Amino acid sequence: MEKTIEESKQGQATIIKKNNSFSKKLYLESYGCQMNFSDSEIVASILANEGFETTRQLEDSDLILLNTCSIREKAEQTVRTRLRSFNKLKKRKSHLIVGMLGCMAERMKSTLLEEEKLVDLVVGPDAYRDLPRLIEEVEGGQKSVNVLLSREETYADISPVRLDKNGISGFISIMRGCDNMCTFCVVPFTRGRERSRNPLTIVAEARDLYNKGYKEVTLLGQNVDSYRWNISKKGDIIDENTSTTNFAQLLALVAKVAPDLRVRFSTSHPKDMTDEVLRTIASHKNICNYIHLPVQSGNSEILKKMNRGYSREWYLERIKAIKKIIPNCAISTDIITGFCGESDEQHQETISLLKEVEFDFSYMFFYSERPKTLAERKYDDDIPLSTKKSRLQEVIDLQHIHSKKKNENAIGNTFEVLIEGFSKKSNEMLSGRNDQNTKVVFPKGNAKVGEYVNVKIESCTTATLIGKII
Ligand code: SAH
Ligand code: SF4
Ligand code: F3S
Repeated sequence: MEKTIEESKQGQATIIKKNNSFSKKLYLESYGCQMNFSDSEIVASILANEGFETTRQLEDSDLILLNTCSIREKAEQTVRTRLRSFNKLKKRKSHLIVGMLGCMAERMKSTLLEEEKLVDLVVGPDAYRDLPRLIEEVEGGQKSVNVLLSREETYADISPVRLDKNGISGFISIMRGCDNMCTFCVVPFTRGRERSRNPLTIVAEARDLYNKGYKEVTLLGQNVDSYRWNISKKGDIIDENTSTTNFAQLLALVAKVAPDLRVRFSTSHPKDMTDEVLRTIASHKNICNYIHLPVQSGNSEILKKMNRGYSREWYLERIKAIKKIIPNCAISTDIITGFCGESDEQHQETISLLKEVEFDFSYMFFYSERPKTLAERKYDDDIPLSTKKSRLQEVIDLQHIHSKKKNENAIGNTFEVLIEGFSKKSNEMLSGRNDQNTKVVFPKGNAKVGEYVNVKIESCTTATLIGKII
């Protein structure tokens, strides 16, 4: 996912309810992956119907909700620190309700109420429809918990309240949960079983966003390649020749919404990504030429221990297929260093894979053992922290060289850029991304947010291309 924006916070937006009957204020902060940010928009929608208006001002709020992440220990620590920072406010405002949503809520369950006296409300990712009732319970003086996971819930009928700042680029969840059981990963425990969402509701959401002025949608799932909607079972007909909709077909359906609506997606899984998906990307101009394909390790034995379902060779074959079918496709990845039992030689295989592929971008982490995962139960977390960190640094330094090289090679080229907003540094500069997902900044001229412009690249940093509109 473009991607684990761990420890980051969602910019808050104020929404306007038509009948003006907002009576309470909600402050909502999101951590973790894009899925969490997307879920927060569903939560805002459910609570808008209950009279909650979102606010950016913590001090004004009647309800604080943190949508949390458990992926690494540090993600949870960040949330704990944030919770404690509400202490004073809570003492001053006796009616203030503080709730925890998302993966950490699911993982910790009611222990959060006991351990963290600051939390009144604990709600897991599949229980957001129950929020109004749970909040009422808290208002009645109780603490409240619902962490039931579901095999069905996709929130397909809920129209999310968009909390993004720009109104140009929106997320659409196409599935929930994960069945892969990678041994290091907490997600199958916090998000439950994998389930796909009705494609008709996905296309309708994309169309609705486009009608509201959005120019880009990102389809979200932990493993988008295993998206599957069985039509005969559920009774909706998409195309009379097929009885199921797979991810390639879904991509094509969303791409048809409008030629100037960019389509992105995340996350692809190396074991499931088909040539059909690659050909669909290649044959639609508005499906972006960018694939996030997490490898985790370059060593087949470690990959096996991680239960990733592919070997180094299989992964490299998938990279070859991408390069053949979509020649100018950007590729990014995720790496974990210092997984259980990883030897120096095995780590060097990750380094050699990075050198072989030369990813445009990587998200890199050292292994963080998570309670109840298969790795925690089966393997010793035996790599010293200092080794995990020095291996991570080696990976980061190498990726830095590759990212810089890619950007330097782009100098002189012209890219179509969708303008998403002003650059962080100056209101004279606009910022957007090219098809390959690289950030591009340039002087604003007469261009406006939401427009497509052609930008000729003149210089770069490791993460950004800098140019001029032509
Ligand atoms: N579904 C996606 C990943 C979601 S989590 C996929 O399969 O690729 C995002 C990334 O966090 C993972 O790709 C992995 O690199 C990292 N991650 C997950 N669990 C971790 C752990 N226990 N320690 C360190 N990094 C972890
Ligand atoms: Fe976690 Fe693996 Fe599922 Fe990704 S595919 S969410 S890493 S279990
Ligand atoms: Fe996402 Fe973190 Fe949960 S990465 S799925 S919010 S554990």
